[in-house]
Amino acid sequence: MPKWVHLCLVAVLVAIAGCADIDWWENASLYQIYPRSFQDSDGDGIGDLKGITSRLSYLKEIGITATWLSPVFTSPMSDFGYDISNFFDIDPIFGTLDDFDALIVEAKSLGVKIILDFVPNHSSDENEWFDKSVNRVDGYDDFYVWHDGKVNAETGEREPPSNWISVFGGPQWTWHETRQQYFLHQFQVKQPDLNFTNPMVREHMLDVLKFWLDRGVDGFRIDAVPHIYEYRNADGSYSDEPVSGWSSNPEAYDYHDHIYTKDQPATVELMYEWRAFLDQYRTENGGDSRVLLAEAFSSVETLSAYFGNGTHLGTQLPMNFQLMYLSGYSTARDVVSSIDYWMNTMWTEHQTANWVVGNHDTNRVADRMGAHKVDLLNVIVSALPGASITYYGEEIGMSNVDVECTGDSCEDRDGERTPMQWTAGRNADFSQGENTWLPLNPDYERFNVQTERGVARSSLNIFKGMQALKSSSAFQSFKQEGGFSYEAITNQVLQIIRTNKYSEEYRILVNMGNGMEIIDGLADKVFEYVLTTAYSSHHQGQTVDLRERILLMPYEAVVLRWLA
Ligand code: NOJ
Ligand code: MG
Repeated sequence: MPKWVHLCLVAVLVAIAGCADIDWWENASLYQIYPRSFQDSDGDGIGDLKGITSRLSYLKEIGITATWLSPVFTSPMSDFGYDISNFFDIDPIFGTLDDFDALIVEAKSLGVKIILDFVPNHSSDENEWFDKSVNRVDGYDDFYVWHDGKVNAETGEREPPSNWISVFGGPQWTWHETRQQYFLHQFQVKQPDLNFTNPMVREHMLDVLKFWLDRGVDGFRIDAVPHIYEYRNADGSYSDEPVSGWSSNPEAYDYHDHIYTKDQPATVELMYEWRAFLDQYRTENGGDSRVLLAEAFSSVETLSAYFGNGTHLGTQLPMNFQLMYLSGYSTARDVVSSIDYWMNTMWTEHQTANWVVGNHDTNRVADRMGAHKVDLLNVIVSALPGASITYYGEEIGMSNVDVECTGDSCEDRDGERTPMQWTAGRNADFSQGENTWLPLNPDYERFNVQTERGVARSSLNIFKGMQALKSSSAFQSFKQEGGFSYEAITNQVLQIIRTNKYSEEYRILVNMGNGMEIIDGLADKVFEYVLTTAYSSHHQGQTVDLRERILLMPYEAVVLRWLA
């Protein structure tokens, strides 16, 4: 029986209205695994599927509902798996299809859902589809986006069809010698964009979804959603994008306003098609809802369109990156504005929320905001209504490693992709091999799962404590009238209130600042401390009379409970 059904049964017993409307993903604790870095099982220094399977019980231990895995498919690894050469197989680095099936079996027995990364915008140039397209094999001619380019009237030289710049910098069009045409790539040259105006491409992508659904996955994180369609003029030409003014470097992505290459209406409709496909699959095969997480660095208004409208359902979890824009200087009021932007749009329109803490493309929280703010952000995302999305290692306070860049293999995102820190032993027990593909953070002897299990107020134990609360009744009843509220009660102190109809009330107070805060007369009741962070001078079980005052140490977060 899915967890939410249990909760609803409990809720029905205590007669909480509205819980039946909550599907599992709406209040889920999601966790991203970067497979190369989670657990190595064969000693080659690179994480793999068997490794992940052996660690799934850990996800259960820390209260995770579902985990999404960055790509594990066959790939030359030019973009570490985001360049797929076979969408229907597992890369040997990660194991085999049998290993994948075994992972699903273990996940199901533990009750942890598995979500795969679906990368529809592009394939690897080493995919057989690209080869067929290059050679104009029947049916594959227009599988990718090809164009002759245009001839410059003054110089007589051939030029790319438009001025478009790729996300990683440099032109989005590259000349192909064999085919004698330009091909489009919104990302690397080795990641040619598939042509979604071709119905055969869309069919192939549905085959990909079906293949993995049949193997038992619970959903997909869709990569690079905004980039799927590009706008083509009726005569087959492509127009230049206007200069944005944000960058002075004409080779940089920010140099243009991406009016023809991002968030096209056809992309929105595609999300509705894929959602309908998943819903239909569920109708035919039973089981819990299959979900779509959308990776889209777009306005929240656009994410709202991806989520759906009165007529169509779209991606259940258009990922909310707003909290990832916070920095070390962000105050409680800044946090509230970030929350507001989402809530005023998505909550108002759809009563849905999700909060992403980090991912494999962005510095870790310890580096973005400071090590002492890691627990604060973990507390905030668990206390807010909706789903939380945690990047592996954030629950133990991992930080970036300054990885030395050598020649071509230079990848500026390595810092946040280092091996998971399991114990204080050799290689942190990530691998029994000689070397690991990226160096371990030397801080692993202190910050690791095993050590933190034994430290009362470690990041890990705070994370676990918050997950336990998140799945309790007051935190589940978030769709009720007045079930939650949040505000900055001072410039630096954020307060989140969670209640249910049965007089349970939690107050989460987070001091984002480096000064002590004293708050008088916050409420007319006496509360009990149920969770305190490392910088707190209070302890679980102590009481505080909010009619008088509460004192918060710098960077202290506390959870208080009032029981009628
Ligand atoms: C977003 C992924 O998160 C990133 O790692 C990748 O490089 C691009 N999409 C291209 O697939
Ligand atoms: Mg595209």
